[in-house]
Amino acid sequence: MRSSLQRRAPTLLRTISRRSQYEAAIISNAPRPAAAATRPAAVAPQKRWHSSVNADEISHFNALASTWWDPHGSSRALHLMNPLRHDFINTCRSTSLSSSTTVTPEPNSQPTAGQQQQHQAPKLRYLDVGCGGGIFAESAARLPSTHSVTAIDAAPVIIQVARQHASKDPLLAEPTKLRYINTTIENLASTLQSSPEGSKFDVVTLFEVIEHVDQPANFLSHLSNHVKPGGWLVLSTIARTWTSWFTTNFMAEDVLGIVPKGTHDWNKYINDDELRGYFSKFADEQGWDLSSLMVQGVVYVPGLGWKEVQGSEKVGNYFLGVQKKA
Ligand SMILES: C[S@@+](CC[C@H](N)C(=O)[O-])C[C@H]1O[C@@H](n2cnc3c(N)ncnc32)[C@H](O)[C@@H]1O
Repeated sequence: MRSSLQRRAPTLLRTISRRSQYEAAIISNAPRPAAAATRPAAVAPQKRWHSSVNADEISHFNALASTWWDPHGSSRALHLMNPLRHDFINTCRSTSLSSSTTVTPEPNSQPTAGQQQQHQAPKLRYLDVGCGGGIFAESAARLPSTHSVTAIDAAPVIIQVARQHASKDPLLAEPTKLRYINTTIENLASTLQSSPEGSKFDVVTLFEVIEHVDQPANFLSHLSNHVKPGGWLVLSTIARTWTSWFTTNFMAEDVLGIVPKGTHDWNKYINDDELRGYFSKFADEQGWDLSSLMVQGVVYVPGLGWKEVQGSEKVGNYFLGVQKKA
């Protein structure tokens, strides 16, 4: 009987040979080769041929919805990753705040101008795209420094689960604190047209989503419209390497079972160089400050959870943050 590795190796070799095509698609806004959905999308986009939504991905995630909040269930790896997401956002944002705001004050000392500025800084408006059941969205909404979280996902069943879970926490009951919308990034601008919150956000997050969308460059260009001048786009995804296939497809899905089978399509992984290429190419058009771009590799260590490992962005999972010019 053939092992799973033997069964999947020919597919991997075929997909590696298509690699240059995928790279071109990421940078150029062109659709990924052979990526067009053949079934209707769960959330019908206004123009299907421009949709980032892949119907198979959405039905896969809808099927996982009921166990989303089980810390030992299908989304275990996402629950464990959540604290690192906040750390990374803080790291990104601290580079654009006055350095004095990060200094621990002496007891009884007067606050510095920088600390006063941070204290008085307006609270943050977050947009969490592909929010799933709300692991990050809920945690962000609970922060004292948060004004509001708008969280969107293309999977309708997941959005129901997210709303239901949030309704159990009175802290999140305030209607403006956390709102879930079942929509696509392509339709978000029109959905938010008359929203008092506006359609631009201080922090736009995209955690473990870009490797599930069709036409990632198109997706990012829609997303960029929702980042305020001076705001941050923060994402996490997976590099397309032999090692990531072994760890995220073979080990995590087939052997250890910490991620449900079929969650990841190795072809859709994106390397940090490809994202750097995207942001360089569209820096002027979309207003990205390339000097702010930050990447941090993270590794899942069984029994210990996710750990930051310098350089591992070239191998597997990583965070990327980039700021818009003010
Ligand atoms: C791996 S889950 C990550 C969920 C969440 N960001 C987290 O990390 O906890 C990927 C999510 O992206 C959503 N998704 C996939 N394609 C999407 C698209 N084109 N637009 C919006 N959401 C999408 C899925 O429905 C799913 O909830």
